[in-house]
Amino acid sequence: MVDSVSKILFHLVAQSGTLKKLASRYGMRRPSSFARRFIAGETVADAIAAARAVEARGMLISLDLLGESVATLAAADVATGGYLDVIDAIITSGIERNISLKLTQLGLDVDKASAIDNLRKILERAAAAGFFVRIDMESSEYTEVTLEIFETLWGHGYRQMGVVLQSALLRSEQDLPRMNALGARVRLVKGAYKEPKSVAYPKKADVDAAYARMLRVLMADGHYPAIATHDPAMIELARAQNVAPDRFEFQMLYGVRRDLQARLVNAGYRVRVYIPFGREWFPYFMRRLGERPANVMFVIRGILGEHG
Ligand code: FDA
Repeated sequence: MVDSVSKILFHLVAQSGTLKKLASRYGMRRPSSFARRFIAGETVADAIAAARAVEARGMLISLDLLGESVATLAAADVATGGYLDVIDAIITSGIERNISLKLTQLGLDVDKASAIDNLRKILERAAAAGFFVRIDMESSEYTEVTLEIFETLWGHGYRQMGVVLQSALLRSEQDLPRMNALGARVRLVKGAYKEPKSVAYPKKADVDAAYARMLRVLMADGHYPAIATHDPAMIELARAQNVAPDRFEFQMLYGVRRDLQARLVNAGYRVRVYIPFGREWFPYFMRRLGERPANVMFVIRGILGEHG
């Protein structure tokens, strides 16, 4: 109950333009401010510094320039240019060449063809420099179009990219063999968006059960799968599949369960940390808060000036 109330509350708050402006103006000002637990900072330099620290702990990284749906093609061009600059900065820095992005950021809500063109520009630059590009999965209205775009570009020979499937969605257990048959690298997540009952499991226990079923299929038939979760039960299940540790990776979010991240690395597993950064951090931050009521206390402590 508390879980779902806090989820709804934070999804509503995340929609608020005024709060968003206030938060971007004040929330990230101090390095110790509450949002800094989950977001590496506002600039690519902040993200690279965070990535270096994560790599020094023996982990892999993926940088995500935060941003959600844009409303004009001009804004999509800006976002695409932003990603091209991030690629260049990563090359110069020498950190691992791995990024995650969202298609609505590249203009999917404005014009599908332009979004594909923008993605292609990023993939061209990325492929030439040996990057891996993960296309994040957004809410269910984008699932089919995201998979279709992925398949189209895969058909055009772009192979250094992967998709994400969400166990919360009823359709995902059909999408998994579709992606496995293609040879695609799949990141398995539970799903971060509030979805209607018509398309998603309303109960968390069902989301978890679907995750476990999909995990088994992915570990048996997948292509270097990414088990993206902080759930110890799912992590144990992945380990129990006895797949060699260099044939898959665990993935976790920056600032979440750092203890578990370290334990898995010490046990010889690959752990990739997803490092979000950028000025448009507010919706991402709200999704993280909505996932766990205890995070709200963290925020309140942050506002009161304590360090978390
Ligand atoms: P669950 O929610 O059951 O949490 C298990 C435990 O993890 C909790 O008990 C708690 O200890 C810890 N935990 C989880 N979330 C926390 C938080 N916010 N703060 C503190 N502790 C927390 N989603 C999506 O829809 N599209 C996507 O593309 C991605 N991409 C993505 C990449 C990576 C690398 C990760 C790890 C996750 C995503 N997600 C995502 C988010 C995902 O769908 C999901 O919302 C979160 O991972 C939380 O779910 P868990 O699997 O961790 O399990």
